[in-house]
Amino acid sequence: MRTSRSLIAGALSLATLAVAPTAAWAAPVQTATPPPAHESHQFSRSSLASMAGELGLTFGVAVNTDELENDRKYRHLATTQFSSVTAENVMKWGPMEPVRGEIDYGPAEALIASAVENDQLVRGHTLVWHSQTPAWLSPDGTETTLTPQQVRDAMQKRVTETATHFKGQIWQWDVVNEAFNEDGTYRRTVFYNAYEALGLPGHQYIADAFRWAHAADPDALLFYNDYNLEFTSPKVLAAEAMVKELLAQDVPIHGVGLQGHLATQYGFPNLQENLQRFADLGLEVALTEVDIRTFVQPDGNGGFTHEVLTPELQATTEAFWRGTLEACLAVEACNSYTVWGVGDANSWVPGVFPGEGSALLWDERLNKKAQFHELRDVLRDAIRQQ
Ligand code: XIL
Repeated sequence: MRTSRSLIAGALSLATLAVAPTAAWAAPVQTATPPPAHESHQFSRSSLASMAGELGLTFGVAVNTDELENDRKYRHLATTQFSSVTAENVMKWGPMEPVRGEIDYGPAEALIASAVENDQLVRGHTLVWHSQTPAWLSPDGTETTLTPQQVRDAMQKRVTETATHFKGQIWQWDVVNEAFNEDGTYRRTVFYNAYEALGLPGHQYIADAFRWAHAADPDALLFYNDYNLEFTSPKVLAAEAMVKELLAQDVPIHGVGLQGHLATQYGFPNLQENLQRFADLGLEVALTEVDIRTFVQPDGNGGFTHEVLTPELQATTEAFWRGTLEACLAVEACNSYTVWGVGDANSWVPGVFPGEGSALLWDERLNKKAQFHELRDVLRDAIRQQ
């Protein structure tokens, strides 16, 4: 049933929301009918945004706000190819509140203003995460000099104030990010530990975060987001069990984001099955941070080039891109597909996985790669088959 995705995700723009603030985003079925995305004047018919829009899918990108401001070519791509944006960093707690009590909303507001101007939705990323926490809260996401009650209060303030500040402007919030270890146990984060020290179940911070976010912005769709949920594993089974528990407790959770940071060396996951796993619980699902890294070649200057792969790795990379988008399109509840950056020069991959890269759709000079054309072919085929 394609319509429900298109009604929910097809073309709700921030402009639409501004005139209709009661849009029922949290409801499983959208009641108002927004205009189809491809009628938007912003996007050319051959853009990823328009083509995905014809399929009821929102096609997003993680945005580096410095590049958006300073690089004209980057800005052109980010604003004309994509129907939603995610803040790559500027909505995270550490970057927003490096000094306790001094919250810098500026870069996030600038991103939202750009999104409004360009008819794009916004995915909020992320309210509660053990990484990129402010040093005053925890330098490493675990240790803290605050008392458990102070940690809980700080978390409540963070969730409530942030969701309130951006109320009505965020389509989907990644409320909690990466709460599990690979073996399916809960990660012992500063939040988990504080709850346990207060005599509460450690993982109750997750339910609280969703409740506080919903109270602050009842129209935002609230997501749990994590990596390595693409393969069937103890982690994805634990995430499924958590979602069931949250739903049984009437916690307002509306979606699960599978990040989709894939690497060719590990093979292609049974992604469709794991998207469907959460869809079967009645939730929206999304691919929220897709990039596909592979082994790259030395550039002769002590670095690596992200522009030329061996023919085998190029073919595998393209097949992975095709596979991720096809998996999302095959699952009705998969309403958005977001790539984690525009060009390889700004990708987080080379810094974190040395020797790997070429993980995005544009190269280091922001030229389109074959991967981009591969995705357009997938969209074109899907449109024809409708
Ligand atoms: C990354 C950003 O891309 C980097 O710029 C930053 O230095 C670290 O975080 N999972 C997530 C994202 O949920 O927020 C991460 O983004 C990548 C992994």
